[in-house]
Amino acid sequence: MYKLIDGKHVAAGIRLEIASEVRKIRETGRKIPHLAAILVGNDGSSETYVANKVKDCHEVGFKSTLQRYESSITEAFLLERIVELNANTDVDAFIVQLPLPKHISEYKIIEAIDPAKDADGFHPENLGRMMTGLPGFLPATPSGIMDLLKYYDIQTRGANCVVVGRSNIVGRPLSVLMSQKGTDATVTLTHSLTKNLDKVVSEAEIVIAAIGSPGFIKAGMVKKGAVVIDVGTTRVPYTGPKSGYRLTGDVDFENVAQKCSFITPVPGGVGPMTRVTLLKNTLLAVKKVEIL
Ligand code: GUN
Repeated sequence: MYKLIDGKHVAAGIRLEIASEVRKIRETGRKIPHLAAILVGNDGSSETYVANKVKDCHEVGFKSTLQRYESSITEAFLLERIVELNANTDVDAFIVQLPLPKHISEYKIIEAIDPAKDADGFHPENLGRMMTGLPGFLPATPSGIMDLLKYYDIQTRGANCVVVGRSNIVGRPLSVLMSQKGTDATVTLTHSLTKNLDKVVSEAEIVIAAIGSPGFIKAGMVKKGAVVIDVGTTRVPYTGPKSGYRLTGDVDFENVAQKCSFITPVPGGVGPMTRVTLLKNTLLAVKKVEIL
């Protein structure tokens, strides 16, 4: 029988710890941690992510501000807003929700963020620090997954880990964290041009699926007893008693779960950990622990 990795539960525990730290900050009269977010346009998923981030901030006692702009704004305008947030001493950390409209370079925007306020850990300086094992902000989803593996005491040492998907936000940074000293997995980073993907995945003790293709990982691809982490969050239109969208993972859960030792559900697996890691990073920015 498989064990469900309950990200909702683990994240709730971390949120309680953060809330308790915020209470201490408040009691000692120090500045309340402040996370800001910029949302450009009205992509449905982004709207949900940002609304959740604001809600999470309130729950732990952080101050949060949201700047919303039309998708027609220029890159120069957005860069000016980032310069302002970098200089604003009341804002400890901030994020720019991705994706951005096509006419704005995500690379330029991310590079403009002060690395010491980069709650998403997307700035090249933070990514470089992660590569070399220096302290810094870690990207939220990969860092949240590492916390889940630790919480459930999942053995990574010498394990074969296959990451499916090579995005800058998830797949690639995860391949670095899983192979770092102390975690010590042997990592294979796969993508759409990988040959014999089924066979490669079937040799993994840990499978991490981050491709954004609903139900892509099938039971026949997974080794018996594997740990399966599903990062997929595709919104699939849904008609039922409560019509709308349903979040769908990259793993054919019903069938794959039967072969696993551990598996994350969607929703309630990785998603809550991504959200709570953003709060953790904000607290890190407040403490200004020897990060930069
Ligand atoms: N878009 C999808 N995931 C993320 C994330 O973690 N941070 C930001 N800024 N944008 C995203």
